[in-house]
Amino acid sequence: MLIDYHRRLAADSVRNEAFRQALERTIRPGATRVADLGSGTGWLGFMSDVLGARSTTLYEREVSLAHLSASLARRNRLSGIEVFAEDSRAILDPEPVDLVVSETLGNLGLEEGIGEILWDARRFLAPGGIRIPSTLALYVRPVGGDRFWAELDPWSTGGSGLDLAPLSELSRQNLYVRSFIPADFAGIPSARIWDRVDFGTRYRTRRRCRVDWCFEQERWVFGFALWWVAGLIDGVALSTAPESHPTHWEQIFAPVLQPVRLAAGEGLGLEINARFSERTGVGFAWTVHAPRGIQSLSIRKGDLERPMPTLARIGSHRATTKTHRRDFRS
Ligand SMILES: C[S@@+](CC[C@H](N)C(=O)[O-])C[C@H]1O[C@@H](n2cnc3c(N)ncnc32)[C@H](O)[C@@H]1O
Repeated sequence: MLIDYHRRLAADSVRNEAFRQALERTIRPGATRVADLGSGTGWLGFMSDVLGARSTTLYEREVSLAHLSASLARRNRLSGIEVFAEDSRAILDPEPVDLVVSETLGNLGLEEGIGEILWDARRFLAPGGIRIPSTLALYVRPVGGDRFWAELDPWSTGGSGLDLAPLSELSRQNLYVRSFIPADFAGIPSARIWDRVDFGTRYRTRRRCRVDWCFEQERWVFGFALWWVAGLIDGVALSTAPESHPTHWEQIFAPVLQPVRLAAGEGLGLEINARFSERTGVGFAWTVHAPRGIQSLSIRKGDLERPMPTLARIGSHRATTKTHRRDFRS
C-alpha cells in the first residue's frame, strides 16, 4: 500500500537526517531555487522551503501523489512551493534552479532511475547549480553464510519425490532484497566498488565491470551482497552497507547457482553486466569466475522495483499545471 511505503520513508531517520544536512548546508535562505525530481509526498521539497529556499518546485509523475503534496503545501501555508504532476523528463524548458535534489534510489542503487533523472537535471540547473546526491558508489562482497542461499530451494527438500530442479535453478537466477549481518562475511575478503556514478557526467545506462578477490583462508561462497554509498554533498554521505545504521533500504543478494569452494590463496572473480534504463527496463547479469568453473546468472524479472500502487484520487485539490509540451524525442 502506498501510504505504508511513504510511512517507511518518513520513518527512515538516517535517510532524512542525511538529506536534511545536505539541504541545510547548501540552501542559502532567500536565494537558492530548488527542484525536487520525484517528490513523492513532497517531504524533501517542504524541508527546502522550511530551510528558506527562494522557491521550490516539485515534480512527481504519480498524479495522485502530486495532488496530495500540493494540498499539503497549502495546508501548511508553504507559499514558495509549486507542484508539477509530471515526469521530470517530460518537462520542456524548466525554470532554472540552483539546486536539484532527487531521492529516487533503489535497494540496488540505480534501478529507480536516478542516473537518468540526475543527468537530465542539467536542463534544470542554472550555471554553477548542484545536484543532491552528487555521486553513487556501488559495492559488492562475496557472501560466506548460507542462510539466504538455502532458503531459495524449498523444492529439493519438499518431499514430493518429484524432480523440480529447474525451479531451484530459476529461483537462483534472481536478485533478493535482504539484510546481511557480520557473520555472513566471516573470513571473506572485503567489499569492492563495482561501479561509480558521478551524476554530473553523462549517464550510461549499460554498466559493466569485473572485480576480483583473493581468499586468505578456505571458504565457501553462496553469492554476493550488493549495496551503495551516495555522496549527497561533500562531507555528507548516505550508506546502505550492512555495517551502517539501518535504513528502509536493505542490501541485495545475488546468489550463485552452486556453492563455490575457495582454497586459501585462490581467486574469485565477478563480472556484472547491468542495464538501468527507463525505456528498456532493468537488466542484471552476473558471471562468477571460480577456480573450478564459471557460472552465469541473470534476472529475468527481478524483485527490484519498489511497489508503487496508485493512490485513490483525492478530490478537489489540484496540483499546479503549467503549459508544457511533452518531448517525444528519444
Ligand atoms: C523514493 S520516492 C521519494 C519521495 C520523496 N522524494 C521523499 O523523499 O520522500 C520516489 C518518487 O519519485 C517518483 N518519480 C520517479 N521518477 C520520476 C520522474 N522522472 N519524474 C517525476 N517523478 C518521478 C516516484 O513516483 C516516487 O513517488
